[in-house]
Amino acid sequence: MCGIVGYVGPSTDDKALQVVMEGLARLEYRGYDSAGVALVTEAAQNGAGNGVQSEKRAGKLENLRGALYAREMAPSRTAIGHTRWATHGGPTDGNAHPHRGGDGDRLALIHNGIIENFHALKKELLAEGVDFDSETDTEVAAKLVGREYDRLGDLTEAMRAVVGRLEGAFTLLAVHADSPGTVVGARRNSPLVVGVGDGENYLGSDVAAFIGYTRHAVELGQDQIVTITPDGYEVIGFDGSPAQGNAYEVTWDAAAAEKGGYETFMEKEIYEQPHAVADTLLGRTDEEGRLVLDDMRISEEQLSRVDRIVMVACGTAAYSGMVAKYAIEHWTRIPVEVALAHEFRYSDPIADERTLVVSISQSGETMDTLMAVKHARELGALTLSICNTHGSTIPRESDAVLYTHAGPEVAVASTKGFTAQITAAYILGLYLAQLRGGTYADEAQAVMRELRGLPDKIQTVLDRMERVIEIARFMADTRSVLFLGRHVGYPIALEGALKLKEIAYIHAEGFAAGELKHGPIALIEPGQPVFVIAPGTATPHDLHKKVVSNIQEIRARGARTLVIAEDGDEDVVPFADEVIRVPASLPLLMPLLTIVPLQVFALHLASAKGLDVDQPRNLAKSVTVE
Ligand code: M6R
Repeated sequence: MCGIVGYVGPSTDDKALQVVMEGLARLEYRGYDSAGVALVTEAAQNGAGNGVQSEKRAGKLENLRGALYAREMAPSRTAIGHTRWATHGGPTDGNAHPHRGGDGDRLALIHNGIIENFHALKKELLAEGVDFDSETDTEVAAKLVGREYDRLGDLTEAMRAVVGRLEGAFTLLAVHADSPGTVVGARRNSPLVVGVGDGENYLGSDVAAFIGYTRHAVELGQDQIVTITPDGYEVIGFDGSPAQGNAYEVTWDAAAAEKGGYETFMEKEIYEQPHAVADTLLGRTDEEGRLVLDDMRISEEQLSRVDRIVMVACGTAAYSGMVAKYAIEHWTRIPVEVALAHEFRYSDPIADERTLVVSISQSGETMDTLMAVKHARELGALTLSICNTHGSTIPRESDAVLYTHAGPEVAVASTKGFTAQITAAYILGLYLAQLRGGTYADEAQAVMRELRGLPDKIQTVLDRMERVIEIARFMADTRSVLFLGRHVGYPIALEGALKLKEIAYIHAEGFAAGELKHGPIALIEPGQPVFVIAPGTATPHDLHKKVVSNIQEIRARGARTLVIAEDGDEDVVPFADEVIRVPASLPLLMPLLTIVPLQVFALHLASAKGLDVDQPRNLAKSVTVE
């Protein structure tokens, strides 16, 4: 979860510190319970011989900034920085990274991930008389790499001597006082990207770390070590053999990762949804209007034999999988199951070469989802990743990738990531329908046409949010909110509740409306606010009517009903305290519209409570540990 930045440049001024602090600000979404930096200072500048100067502070980056302001850091051309989401050891100054090792503590090291065998390694080091200053697993790596440096005198070799002994997931960056102008990184099951500059080079957990300086990126492969100097970078495998990363150009710029005039990233990202959906749809049809997926590395023949689909994901991404289930089953008649990734992996799942396991992940780094994908591959299943982050681990571990083009999502609460995931899943469903032929193959083009109109309809919803914002502000003291939905509205109810829980810290529950009378209706008491996502009037099986009855039932028991309904749906009006209107669309596509008011509601209620919307307590953007 942590954010990592490294920099080496040509001149010993304050640029290294500046680059690293800017990078940390952009990576703070990955974890924000403490932060730290280390700089290699050089004899020529400080007159006192080489050294490593570090500063670290518990709390947000602001605290580190204050500490750096209060002391003078020596000029440097080599720096590393870290923003932490605590796993081993609480969020204290002492547990913050960097950690030090080697003779005279001349090595500094930062880490993202979990070193699973750190207890055994620590025991070994303690027996040798090594002292520890923190409760972290990271410090074990720092001590080990430091010790190897003292033995070998080479930072890359020292790193190589250690990584083979570490189990778990890690990205490590290290600098040493005796190696100015060098940062060494290593990765296993955790991301690391090189930013290639002109006479200066960068390392980051993702490209946001250095996007203000270069768009040339090289993503490292599994079990690789990279050494950057101002003049270049060199990649080797953990076994020492020469290796290569995967070079690519980043297509978005620093502005895309900044707030662009909005108060919060979450607000910006909500308002970017028309673009996120439109961009995800781009280039998906050929001249004859047939669907094409260019990132597929599974043959059409393999895909046409698929007899079962399992969607694996966590949190919001899992809810997008639930929406997709209704659409894909309807269009393809292939059974679709949705499994929380952490449950799938350990449930002894059944899968074979006719099973398509579709992972959904905005970050592409969620460890639970990654482990599910790896397990699916071991079972012989075909794996396809729906992902928003180029170069991330999950797509790399999958047989095929369908990228969403939502742009960087920074706020912890996923919004545009969600609508882009649903869009991509629709594309996948339509593609499979087309491949298999049958009734829905003919419908695919009509659905695609409607989908192309969805960005404008999302914009219409956004333009109508004034009343929702008022309601949210008015409800700032509310202690509990319920959400009801049916069919594709059910996962939207779950997602609406999740948004409120995670950023407004309010008790919120989503239910399938049909489940009401099986228990949840007992929760209804006078004044209880309940959002109801009314199905489109064209939804089959009279579901619209059935939900209207549900609204009456809860209203009769005193609920305050806030109904999200399509334009022209007058049936809900007599039973709604508030009607929130969205344009009508095909019933299966409605989630792209109905989720928007719930996102806006959560955002404004949390803001009215004065909460930090982008970085809610206890959470991190990427959950890169199991
Ligand atoms: O990066 P991913 O899509 O794999 O993340 C999955 C969940 O951790 C994520 O959706 C989480 O639930 C969000 N904070 C929800 O807003």
